[in-house]
Amino acid sequence: MKKLLICSSLVLAYGAAQAQTVNMICSVQAEWCSLMSTVYAKTTGVKVNMTAKGSGEALAQLNAEKANPKTDIWFGGTGDPHLQAAEQNLTLEYKSAQLTALYPWAQKQAVDSKFRTVGVYLGPLGFGYNTELLAKKKVAPPTSWADLLKPEFKGEIQMANAASSGTSYTVIATLVQLMGEDKAFDYMKQLHKNVSTYTRSGVAPAKAVARGETAVSISFVHDVTTEATQGFPAASVTPSEGTGAEIGSMSIVKDGPNTEAAKKFYEWALTPGGQQFGLAAKQFQLPSNAKVPVDPRMTNPSKIKLINYDYAKYGASAERRRLIAKWEKEVFNQPR
Ligand code: F6P
Repeated sequence: MKKLLICSSLVLAYGAAQAQTVNMICSVQAEWCSLMSTVYAKTTGVKVNMTAKGSGEALAQLNAEKANPKTDIWFGGTGDPHLQAAEQNLTLEYKSAQLTALYPWAQKQAVDSKFRTVGVYLGPLGFGYNTELLAKKKVAPPTSWADLLKPEFKGEIQMANAASSGTSYTVIATLVQLMGEDKAFDYMKQLHKNVSTYTRSGVAPAKAVARGETAVSISFVHDVTTEATQGFPAASVTPSEGTGAEIGSMSIVKDGPNTEAAKKFYEWALTPGGQQFGLAAKQFQLPSNAKVPVDPRMTNPSKIKLINYDYAKYGASAERRRLIAKWEKEVFNQPR
């Protein structure tokens, strides 16, 4: 009897220790997730194991582990692949108690996914440029999509690869909505001639601009702001014709090993307390909880020309796959 008691208490203790872990894929800059994980572990005792992956790569990983998920929560990354994961039944339906405290765009993301994802931040797309490099070349910064086709930017532009990066897919979907599909692909074929490198992650071109490795990037403007606040000669602009924005999202993985712990982390990540760590880690996306103070360095979406991005349409599996495959064939794989 005594043996049995010791045994069952060991099992209980083992079970409790098991529950004290959350496995997270992080698709924002690692500093943000690290800070959240450290604070969360200190305040709750729950360890967050973090793996950093771009938005497209994260979706590929969830698909790869579908039969036996190792991941509990996917934090951040552009909203389109989160919507695709929802449609593919990779993520769990869950309605947060925090939903009504979120901006309408973040709630709509939850509704569009049938409550399998939710908006955690918003970030507009634009261009980054190195102020010193452009001044040295006596070239004016680009202010429009049309400007990027100018001969002075040949070999001077970096953007990410749509196969791995959600930022890059946001560029494609934005241009298709802004110009219509045929004109957008004609434009991207022209742009291809001026692009020197397609990077794996969406943030890499902004870092390259900051370090003077390229003059111009197509980036989320908040990633350029992060570099500028660190003292690099980087500035950003949003294109005059109009631009898209990402709704950075968060999803709980279906049948993950620590679902209950993941739900608690998810709830916390939507509170004002949980959302303050983006800014604390020098990240300038607009947080989705309306009670979080807005920093003046964050772009005010009402002050720029934003298109009415159709998240449900461009986050649908078939559309996202089709556009990426078309971009790879007609743009990426073409000679310059
Ligand atoms: O963390 C910076 C960031 O721009 C996020 O705002 C965005 O969701 C993510 O990177 C996209 O990364 P990627 O393009 O590599 O998928």
